[in-house]
Order: sequence, then C-alpha cells, then structure tokens
Amino acid sequence: MQDETVSTDHSAEPTRRDFLYLTTGVAAAVGAAAVAWPFIDQMQPDASTLALSTVEVDVSSLEPGMSLTVKWRGKPVFIRNRTEQEIEAAKQVPLSDLKDPEARNENLPASAPATDVDRSAGEGKENWLVMIGVCTHLGCIPLGQSGEFGGWFCPCHGSHYDTAGRIRKGPAPENMAIPLFEFTSDTVVRIG
Ligand code: FES
Repeated sequence: MQDETVSTDHSAEPTRRDFLYLTTGVAAAVGAAAVAWPFIDQMQPDASTLALSTVEVDVSSLEPGMSLTVKWRGKPVFIRNRTEQEIEAAKQVPLSDLKDPEARNENLPASAPATDVDRSAGEGKENWLVMIGVCTHLGCIPLGQSGEFGGWFCPCHGSHYDTAGRIRKGPAPENMAIPLFEFTSDTVVRIG
C-alpha cells in the first residue's frame, strides 16, 4: 500500500499527487493549490498505481462549515466538517422519507441503514462526512451546499442530496458512496 499526504503547505514543491482544493470559504487561502489542479491532474500515476494507493489528508484547517476535495483513485472525495445545523437537519429526517434507505458506507455492513450517524465518520465524529463526490445517476460531480436540502446538487439532471449526502430528489438512485476511511489521528484521515 502506498500512503501519501496532502498538505496545505504552500512552501513545499507540489508533487504529482498533491491533489487538493478547498471549496467555499477557504478558496482564497489556497488559490495556488486550486490553480495547480488541472496541471497536476495530467500527471497522474498510471491506473495500477492508483488502484493500490491510499491518501492521507490533514483536515486540521477545516473549521465547521468548510470542505475540501481530494482526488483518490481518480475520483473526487468530499471531506466536510459539518455544522451542528447540518447534522441536526440530517438527523431529523425519518428513514421512511429517504429514497435510498441504505448507508452505502464501506466501513459498515451492507445492511446498515442510512441514518445520519452511519453516513458520518461515526459516534463522536459525526461532524465529519467523507464521501465519493460522484452523482449516482450518471457520474457528474455535484455542487456543495446547494440544492433543496442544503447538501449537494447535481446540475446535470437535477439530483438533490441532503447534508448527509443522501439522495432526496431527482433521478439519482443511491446515496453518494462512503469509501473505506479511518481517522489515524484527530486531524488526519486516511482514505482507502
Ligand atoms: S448525473 Fe447527476 S443527476 Fe444525472
């Protein structure tokens, strides 16, 4: 297995696997990283390397309400430090209201229900949502903090996801997938 660390240290030379950009609220602070994305994206390791890789992400700079996106195995992974309001909004939703009642969380049994805690990083870390940022309809990348449920909105065909990344309206059939991940410390999450 090959670990890699995503850093926000601007003084470091970007490496070919420094895939990072931050979304709302902190875009200005990491402008250089955001600009570098398209360039770095073209220097990806080949598919066999990607398939084996894990990525370690330092999330210490993410205040509640902030997100970042890392690229892992060729896909965007959204990491969001959710606000109390976002967690509460997701908890209030009865499972019977969900279009997809399954957690779709690789860290849990396949039968796990799509409760808010089972979509999150778990008890005590419910503020953290780590999920593959790919719409389950036809694979577009949804926009964060958008749509009718305050979560993500996929403009391709109008799918609305809630603050736990669960599909609530539109053609997407499933909740956005939660990959295998683990917090290796209070501030570092390893994906894969
Ligand atoms: S790809 Fe997202 S709604 Fe169709």
